[in-house]
Amino acid sequence: METGTAVGFSPLLLFFFVFFTVLFPFSIPFTPTDNYLVHCGSTTNATVDNRVFVGDSSKPGSLFLSEGRSVPVADANPPRNSTVLYRTARVFRTASSYRFRVGKTGLHFVRLHFFPFVDRNFDLTVATFSVSVNGFSLLRGFRAEVAVIKEFILNVGEEMLELRFVPAGGSSGFGFVNALEVFSAPDDLILDDGARKITASSTQEFRNLSSQVFQTVHRINVGGSKLTPFNDTLWRTWIPDDDFLVLKSAAKRAVATDPPNYQSGGATKEDAPDNVYMTAQEMNRDNVTAFARFNITWDFPVESDPGGVRYLVRLHFCDIISQALNQLYFDVYINEYSAYSNVDLSVLTYHVLASPYYMDFVVDSDSSGILRISVGPSEISNPGKVNALLNGAEIIRIVSSVGESDGSKKKNLWVIIGSLVGSIAAFVIIVVGILLCMRCGKARQKPSAASESTAYTQLRVLGGSSHSKLSIGRALASPGANGCLNLRIPFVDVQSATSNFDKNLIIGSGGFGMVYKGVLKDGTKVAVKRGVPGSRQGLPEFQTEITVLSKIRHLHLVSLIGYCEEQSEMILVYEYMEKGSLKHHLYGSRYPPLSWKQRLEICIGAARGLHYLHTGSAQGIIHRDIKSTNILLDENYVSKVADFGLSRSGPCLDETHVSTGVKGSFGYLDPEYFRRQQLTDKSDVYSFGVVLFEVLCARPAVDPMLAREQVNLAECAMQWQKKGMLSEIIDPHLAGDISASSLKKYGDTAEKCLAEYGMDRPSMGDVLWNLEYALQLHEDGRQREPQEDSDADVADLPTKGTVRKVQPQKAETSEGDYVAASSDVSTTQVFSQLLTSEGR
Ligand SMILES: *[C@@H]1O[C@H](CO)[C@@H](O)[C@H](O)[C@H]1NC(C)=O
Ligand SMILES: *[C@@H]1O[C@H](CO)[C@@H](O)[C@H](O)[C@H]1NC(C)=O
Repeated sequence: METGTAVGFSPLLLFFFVFFTVLFPFSIPFTPTDNYLVHCGSTTNATVDNRVFVGDSSKPGSLFLSEGRSVPVADANPPRNSTVLYRTARVFRTASSYRFRVGKTGLHFVRLHFFPFVDRNFDLTVATFSVSVNGFSLLRGFRAEVAVIKEFILNVGEEMLELRFVPAGGSSGFGFVNALEVFSAPDDLILDDGARKITASSTQEFRNLSSQVFQTVHRINVGGSKLTPFNDTLWRTWIPDDDFLVLKSAAKRAVATDPPNYQSGGATKEDAPDNVYMTAQEMNRDNVTAFARFNITWDFPVESDPGGVRYLVRLHFCDIISQALNQLYFDVYINEYSAYSNVDLSVLTYHVLASPYYMDFVVDSDSSGILRISVGPSEISNPGKVNALLNGAEIIRIVSSVGESDGSKKKNLWVIIGSLVGSIAAFVIIVVGILLCMRCGKARQKPSAASESTAYTQLRVLGGSSHSKLSIGRALASPGANGCLNLRIPFVDVQSATSNFDKNLIIGSGGFGMVYKGVLKDGTKVAVKRGVPGSRQGLPEFQTEITVLSKIRHLHLVSLIGYCEEQSEMILVYEYMEKGSLKHHLYGSRYPPLSWKQRLEICIGAARGLHYLHTGSAQGIIHRDIKSTNILLDENYVSKVADFGLSRSGPCLDETHVSTGVKGSFGYLDPEYFRRQQLTDKSDVYSFGVVLFEVLCARPAVDPMLAREQVNLAECAMQWQKKGMLSEIIDPHLAGDISASSLKKYGDTAEKCLAEYGMDRPSMGDVLWNLEYALQLHEDGRQREPQEDSDADVADLPTKGTVRKVQPQKAETSEGDYVAASSDVSTTQVFSQLLTSEGR
């Protein structure tokens, strides 16, 4: 009976175990499977930082020693404050080995402690020797003249780890070691995806990082104090950065009082302890103007090898300096090469402030013997928020890949491990997916503000962040905030949908790659955006697009149907927009001209989509590239804004060739953004104003074929609008269709959008409202003159000059988008308070 109960419960226990270990890995302290700590040359054990180092001269310890001739030695006059570990050593007279059984293959730390002292028979400072692990050479001709700890991180594929010391210098030579640590590292400490290889000319994905052998060179707690093994779950030592700062006065310490907000998928406590993320250096702006731009730079001594030495540079970030999201944009340089531009931690950490994140870079050293790291403000920083920060840095030498000779054997093992991990992950995803669907179902039944926000937070836990930490599969096979969809699409399905990427199905191309038309198995028509296969260059952007888009569902935003990242492919699958871009319906094609009503409805839809991006549940997304080719139409001429995933998510796809600061299209670009490089949602409003004129006049934003004063549509249309003669330049097809009052309202709205200064421009909510009014004027067939707008019967409708005081009392019903209205606050406030539900 009792047994039956136990059996009945175990799946549940297993479920909880899996659920908590996978979803909340950071809540459980890391315990290494293998954990060998050896107090060399000692007969007794020593406890250091709560860890027991076993004396290797006592019975159990000597089990590790397998061969060779070695003797224990002791320091007769140890320095008073030296740790007990360093008072003894083992001296190797001949090649000798320690052997440790590996309980779990995978990443391991190997730490060797050398504290040379002079014994009666041996002067350890002159010992010269080599150290290898399982035949792979870690140290060659090594001599420890001063106390030093050598740390290596490597993948162990065998069941035994053999650490071999080989003295140099013939029979009189000897080697030594004071203490040893061999322990399992978390599997995801170093991942194969996401590292960027930085060179003068390009940034590329660096693959297969985890199969390398690493040697730690510097581990820095930037802006913080020294952290000892006692402070670190992997018993690492972090030292302060002050000695490496090139210009101390450029940097200022920042210290957080609260612990960082760890998120699943982001950096964990194992990546760096709390204290690393709670301290940083930021730009010291004490004696400079709000606009001053400069870098904070650190120089780290590294080996200068003419052949070049390769380093993994891991930078740790946690935005502890911003008061709110989306305030900090900065650039990262390594060896003066651009490594990452326009870092927006808010986006990278899923809109959670003070959430730890790290980035991996791979660089080759030059002959200077210095590795230089700089952070500085991005071109798109807002004045008053010009800043940059760094919380931690690890400079780790890539010693070499695990010998090509026996690589194949190891690879096989990794394949097995990989598939095992894969199937476990798949199981977990299914379980979690079911759970989330149940949860989502509940949240949907009652879409109150509270339940929606809780659902969002709970779900977001899955949608982690750190691009290197997180395999997209794990994060995104699960739903975004709004849908219980599995967004992952197998590559074979994408292939068959596009007849194996048939050239005839290409419907466009962009920075990302080609766009194909396709049909999924279930008959859904899709647009398939395929990154250049194998390049992996836009990986972070790709991930951001997926995570941002999967959270956004709105009738007027083009939906992401799925993605595929198999076989080094990066593919995004969107809903197919039958009627193509708005531009094609305005000029230069054989489509029949759109009626004024259709045009207004298309603009209203796009405005609604943009308004949602700016203020809806996705919040704070600035499109940055609004133009008539990015407004798409479905078969019913319903307009949807497209291409917004990359909007402000960090660097451009092609960083080296495009000025990443000012992104956007000629003719639509907000002059203020261009001038001051300050990005706000009002830049989208400006571009939208250009689109409004484009729709009205049916001509391109820039038409070089025209007379000089007419080339730029925004300038030209504004002149006519200001003269009150806009009707002179409207699309001839609209003549007779468009009423004077509707045109007046529309023209005024577009004019306001194009105001010189962002603060003078209306919000998208205001624009939306005014366009709806223009439509209403059109529908009502009222031919009233604008000044009649102040008549009593329309007093509650917007009038010229009071655009910002509109009272949106109408509750939207069409899509159920909006559920609030108020009568005595400005539109801007009202709209930001609107509760925006899914949109469909
Ligand atoms: C780090 O550990 C030391 C003991 O080695 C302790 O005194 C110190 O307070 C710890 N620092 C932090 C930040 O936890
Ligand atoms: C920061 O350093 C990089 C690389 O040396 C340089 O290109 C950039 O202009 C610097 N930025 C500022 C604001 O000085």
